[in-house]
Amino acid sequence: MEQNIALIDKLEAESCLSREEWIALIEGRSPSGAEYLFQKARKWQQHFFGSRIYTRGLIEFTNYCKNDCYYCGIRRSNPQAQRYRLTKEEILECCQIGYGLGFRTFVLQGGEDGRFSQKELEDLVYAIKSRYADCAVTLSIGERSYESYLGLFRAGADRYLLRHETADSNHYRSLHPPELSLEKRKQCLYWLKEIGYQTGTGFMVGSPGQTAAHLAEDMMFIRKLEPQMVGIGPFVPHHGTPFAGEPGGTVELTLFLIGLLRLMLPNLLLPATTALGTIDPEGREKGILAGANVVMPNLSPTSVRKKYELYDNKICTGDEAAECWACLNRRMEKIGYELAVSRGDFESIPHPEEKPPG
Ligand code: SAM
Ligand code: FES
Repeated sequence: MEQNIALIDKLEAESCLSREEWIALIEGRSPSGAEYLFQKARKWQQHFFGSRIYTRGLIEFTNYCKNDCYYCGIRRSNPQAQRYRLTKEEILECCQIGYGLGFRTFVLQGGEDGRFSQKELEDLVYAIKSRYADCAVTLSIGERSYESYLGLFRAGADRYLLRHETADSNHYRSLHPPELSLEKRKQCLYWLKEIGYQTGTGFMVGSPGQTAAHLAEDMMFIRKLEPQMVGIGPFVPHHGTPFAGEPGGTVELTLFLIGLLRLMLPNLLLPATTALGTIDPEGREKGILAGANVVMPNLSPTSVRKKYELYDNKICTGDEAAECWACLNRRMEKIGYELAVSRGDFESIPHPEEKPPG
């Protein structure tokens, strides 16, 4: 216990730990150590963001994917997935509804769907940015070439989410088919940063075969990359994938890692994810109280929500966008926070010299 507290203090003071220290901290965690961590994490969260929770409207615009990730419900070899693509008009309609509700960031997420050409994607980004000049556009459409990322950035995209999934190459190979590699994934992340995107990475907690040593690699990779956003959520099995019978990740470990990420990179944009809300009815509230500061309600049309089934029992698949906003706002207010009507950009603030008050 004392060792855990000492490591938490060290992480806060120095923003990094050695591999051995990360492993000891993760393996030696306890409920009281976690509470100590969350208090510190909330202090930093309040220092940078107050009680304001940033919102991102998630538009899941295609569930076609050329990839075959073993964990993912929309992988190409799941014949049960009912495939769909939204048209440009349908996507713009989602943005219109979202804008009216208070969203100032739209996240376009999808499988790697070759049917959308580079030009169509650039036109789409440009159309959203011209209609909603005060909004940010985030893309989450997987691995692409440097030129493609650059073209989308020039068309107006502000941010890009691409989870590295695991920073251990053997573990990466056990989660993905041979044509996908950790090296390529990392290369894409460095390109995105170089081009100037606010860049997000992340990983699933409790993915099959994951150990504390793998998580230590994840934390060290994130420290080195210094992304502006990190999305982590529990692995949740999907019945139509090779990992159908594997155990899912836990709320407890996910929250602990959220707290650690907040201490390591205190001004990070850190979502309380839908996957966390799926395995615990109060998962998103717990995520905020562990240090997260972003929520990503679903803005996709209700007619397709169920079809973007990455994992079983995904929440919010039946609600209208307005209901999602209102429901999350109530949930946040209950724990002393509020949803912000703001782009919620990453603001670079000197660290670690600047200490939170108190
Ligand atoms: N195709 C894009 C990409 O590869 O980044 C974006 C879509 S992909 C479905 C978004 C994220 O969903 C992945 O990075 C992965 O971490 C997460 N995901 C997929 N299957 C999951 C599962 N069974 N449980 C939890 N998260 C999952
Ligand atoms: Fe492509 Fe999951 S396998 S989005």
